[in-house]
Amino acid sequence: MKFIHLSDTHLLPRPRTIMGIDACARLEAAVASINANFADSAFCMVTGDLTDEGDAQSYREFRKILDRLPMPWYPLLGNHDIRSVARENLGDLPWHSDGFLQYEFETPAGQFIVLDSLVDMDTSYLNEDQLKWLDERLGVAQQDKKDVYLFMHHVPFNIGIPWLDRLYRMDNGEDLAAVLNRYNNIRHMFFGHVHRPIHGSWHGIPFSIVRSTAHQVALDLEDDKSKFIAEPPSFGIVLIEDNQVVIHDHSFLEDNLPII
Ligand SMILES: [Fe+2]
Ligand SMILES: [Fe+2]
Repeated sequence: MKFIHLSDTHLLPRPRTIMGIDACARLEAAVASINANFADSAFCMVTGDLTDEGDAQSYREFRKILDRLPMPWYPLLGNHDIRSVARENLGDLPWHSDGFLQYEFETPAGQFIVLDSLVDMDTSYLNEDQLKWLDERLGVAQQDKKDVYLFMHHVPFNIGIPWLDRLYRMDNGEDLAAVLNRYNNIRHMFFGHVHRPIHGSWHGIPFSIVRSTAHQVALDLEDDKSKFIAEPPSFGIVLIEDNQVVIHDHSFLEDNLPII
């Protein structure tokens, strides 16, 4: 199975830009690239910060652009999103009865579980009820002998970029780890939020993070100040087979660049 992992689209109403970047045009370019190169993907997942300021127009634009994809698309919320505005404008998404945008869907590769760690711009955690719901869903999947893939915006552990770890790491990562550690069927976790391509494992579970489709965070492992850079954007293409998960990173603005 093949699917696309996009993140941090940060849309603003046109013609506003973010750090000089037209985030709507960037998302349009990403979608055009998916349609040209990976149109047979099963779905496209967008791991949060769909908009930069949580305005209604940007959520409507988000839907308009994503609807150009021939495959289903699934979003989740990040700290730049505003849940009430997202719900008003993306009302047909599978909102949980608690008001969170957390849900699951089934694919031939297993169960895909989407979490909502948004509290406000600077606060992120999964509350007791959310963790209980996750625990239940993981239990059912394990009973049914299904593999699980998890998606969320905030990263629940340090990544080694000081200002992101200090300000933006999910507040109760170890509570999440305590739930995940009860199961052995979680194949991979996918995050957004940090605007960098990062891969590794946490409590033995492999994870990956993709770049933003708009602006990128500088790779500075020393300085504790926020720093953004003009690295090209990219998205992930995830290939799942029985015994493997392979993730490619595609710099979509370079689709049409000549070699010389
Ligand atoms: Fe972001
Ligand atoms: Fe974020």
